[in-house]
Amino acid sequence: MNQTITLTNGKEIPVLGYGTWRNTDPDECKNGVKWALEYGYRHIDTAQMYGNEEMVGEGIRLSGVKREEIFLTSKLNNDNHGYENAKRTIDESLARLGTEYMDLFLIHWPFVQGHEEDWVENNIETWRAFEEAYDAGKLKAIGLSNFKVEHLESLLPHCRIKPMVNQLRLHPGVLQEETVAMSREAGMAIEAWSPLSPIPQMQEDEAVVEMTEKYHRTIAQILLRYCVQKEWIPLTKSVHEDRIKENAAIFDFKLDEEDMDYLDQWQWQGDVFL
Ligand SMILES: NC(=O)c1ccc[n+]([C@@H]2O[C@H](COP(=O)([O-])OP(=O)(O)OC[C@H]3O[C@@H](n4cnc5c(N)ncnc54)[C@H](OP(=O)(O)O)[C@@H]3O)[C@@H](O)[C@H]2O)c1
Repeated sequence: MNQTITLTNGKEIPVLGYGTWRNTDPDECKNGVKWALEYGYRHIDTAQMYGNEEMVGEGIRLSGVKREEIFLTSKLNNDNHGYENAKRTIDESLARLGTEYMDLFLIHWPFVQGHEEDWVENNIETWRAFEEAYDAGKLKAIGLSNFKVEHLESLLPHCRIKPMVNQLRLHPGVLQEETVAMSREAGMAIEAWSPLSPIPQMQEDEAVVEMTEKYHRTIAQILLRYCVQKEWIPLTKSVHEDRIKENAAIFDFKLDEEDMDYLDQWQWQGDVFL
C-alpha cells in the first residue's frame, strides 16, 4: 500500500494518490481526505484551481495522521503565473492548507490565458519562483503538469533545479507516449490524472469484464493497477467511502503481460481533454 517511487532529489512519493478535483462541498471534501488517510493513502493531490485547499487541510487534521507522514501536492492556478505572482501565491496556498511546506507544487497548465504570446518566458519566470521556494524549504519537490514536448523543450534548458514530476492525463487509450518518454529522460516521475475515465466504456468491453472475473477485481482496480505497472503514479478521486477503500486495494495482485498488452492497445472513444 505504501509503495513509493524515489524522485531525483531523493524524496519518496507514494505511488497511489487521492485526488480532490471537483470536491468543493466542504463535508464531502474533508471526509474524502480523512477516509483516504484512514484507508492508508499517504498522498493527497489538490490545486489552487479546485478551491478546496482549506478543506483538504482540515481533512488532513481531522484524520489525525501526522503531517510528516503525508505527501501533499498543490498546483499553481492559471492566473498566478509569473515570478511575483507565483512567489506570493505559494505562501497563500501554505496558509490555506495550514502547513509550513508542500511536498510537491506543480505548474498546473503550461499555456494560459493572457500569456498566448509570452508563454515561454512566462513559464521560465514562474519556475524561478518555484526554485526559490524550493531552496527556502517551502516546497520539498517541484514539478509540472500537462507539459507536452514543446512546453518541456522550451522550459527545461532554463531550469537551475530540474522538475521532478510531470502530472498528465493518462489511462488506456490516452498514453501520451512521446511526452512520457521525454519527461522520464529528463528525470521526472509520471503521475496519471483521471485514470478511471474509461470505466463507462469498459463496462461494455467483454475482454475487460473477463479480466474482472479472472482477477476478482473491479474495473477501477484494474485501471489503477495498470497505472502502477506502467510506473505511473495514479491519482484517483471518489467522495464515497466504499470506493475510496476499493481503489486502495491494488497492491496484492498483478495484471499479466497479455492483459497489459490488451489495455495498451485499447481505444478510447471519449473526448480527450488534455
Ligand atoms: N493536473 C490536472 O490538470 C488534473 C486534471 C484532472 C484531475 N487531476 C487530479 O487527478 C485526480 C484524479 O482525477 P479524477 O478526479 O478525474 O478521478 P478518477 O479517479 O479518474 O475518477 C473519476 C470518477 O470516477 C468515480 N469513481 C471513483 N472510484 C470509482 C470506483 N471504484 N468505481 C466507479 N467509479 C468510481 C468518481 O466518482 P465518485 O466521486 O462519485 O465516486 C470520479 O468522479 C483529480 O481528483 C485531481 O486531483 C489533475
